[in-house]
Amino acid sequence: MSVAIEVKDVVKKFRRGRRLKKRDIFAVDKATFDIEEGELFGLLGPNGAGKTTLVRCLATLLIQDEGTIKIMGKDIYSNSLYCRRQIGLVTSGERTLYWKLSGRDNLKFFAALYGLDGKERDMRIEYLMELLDLKDVQNERIEKYSSGMKQKISLARALLHDPKVLLLDEPTLGLDPQFSRFLRNFIKNSLNKEQKKTILLTTHYMDEADELCERIAFINRGKIVDVKTPYEYKRDLPHTEVLELRCSGIQNCDELLKQLQSLNSVEKTTANSVDHVTNIKIILPRAEPILSDTIELVRKQGKILGINVEQPTLEDVFIYVTGTRLSEDTAEERPATKD
Ligand SMILES: Nc1ncnc2c1ncn2[C@@H]1O[C@H](COP(=O)(O)OP(=O)(O)OP(=O)(O)O)[C@@H](O)[C@H]1O
Ligand SMILES: [Mg+2]
Repeated sequence: MSVAIEVKDVVKKFRRGRRLKKRDIFAVDKATFDIEEGELFGLLGPNGAGKTTLVRCLATLLIQDEGTIKIMGKDIYSNSLYCRRQIGLVTSGERTLYWKLSGRDNLKFFAALYGLDGKERDMRIEYLMELLDLKDVQNERIEKYSSGMKQKISLARALLHDPKVLLLDEPTLGLDPQFSRFLRNFIKNSLNKEQKKTILLTTHYMDEADELCERIAFINRGKIVDVKTPYEYKRDLPHTEVLELRCSGIQNCDELLKQLQSLNSVEKTTANSVDHVTNIKIILPRAEPILSDTIELVRKQGKILGINVEQPTLEDVFIYVTGTRLSEDTAEERPATKD
């Protein structure tokens, strides 16, 4: 198999802060990975990890400060036109569409930018409208579309020139469960399996990455932490249980985590609070031996609302590898998308 996207030692810095206190932020820090032709590859990381910056570099919208990027074997710096033709980009915002134009007219406009016109253009737009189930709304102005339909038009636009490679930056962000499910199926079955597109998908939804991606790169603070299949991540996690506690009335969470961390064989502890309810996760080989000590420590501060022992998810692997949660809104708190 040949390599579709090659990222080698890529660094992208931004200068931030006031005039005299400017400092460099390493949005992407020596990122290296390859994506094979036809692969559905995930870039998974929390807010601010550098996902969008990396995608913008791959899409030639930003120039990296160091390192090289190749698309279908060619360097993007010296072959930017060729590379752009290979790429379709979808971002999570729909700000790049023309709101006063209809869906169809938006596609006609962007088709012209790709040099498509006449019958070829009309046939392509017809095909994409059909494929994405947009025919009923094609003549409505974009401003009347729901977020999900705008996202479908953005996807249709990215597919106009039939690119080999798709860069999808958080494609389901903010969509309702029905549209998320449609898009996930479409990405996996229609675009990847049937049309054999190489896809780089960024997300901070671990269930999305787990469900869709063949391999996943964990990214944290600009660094690629690891690249593996979801199965390998879980298999290689040496610690197999996750003790979860839902509590209320916790005043000093940092102190509690410190105490829990010192219990026998505890590997990692994290917590997040929503509406005075604190969810604590403890990763360790076996939860049972520390159960009573844990309950005692938590009860000194507050009330226990629920206890659960689970097998690790990809989120737990991420916490284990980086010590960071993927996001504050964990899979349980975002709209469910599973049937
Ligand atoms: N144009 C910019 N100027 C200055 N700093 C920037 C710029 N774009 C991104 N950053 C910073 O670079 C880092 C990475 O941001 P980026 O948007 O790539 O992360 P992300 O993983 O896409 O996050 P999110 O999940 O929130 O979309 C952040 O610290 C961000 O504040
Ligand atoms: Mg982003």
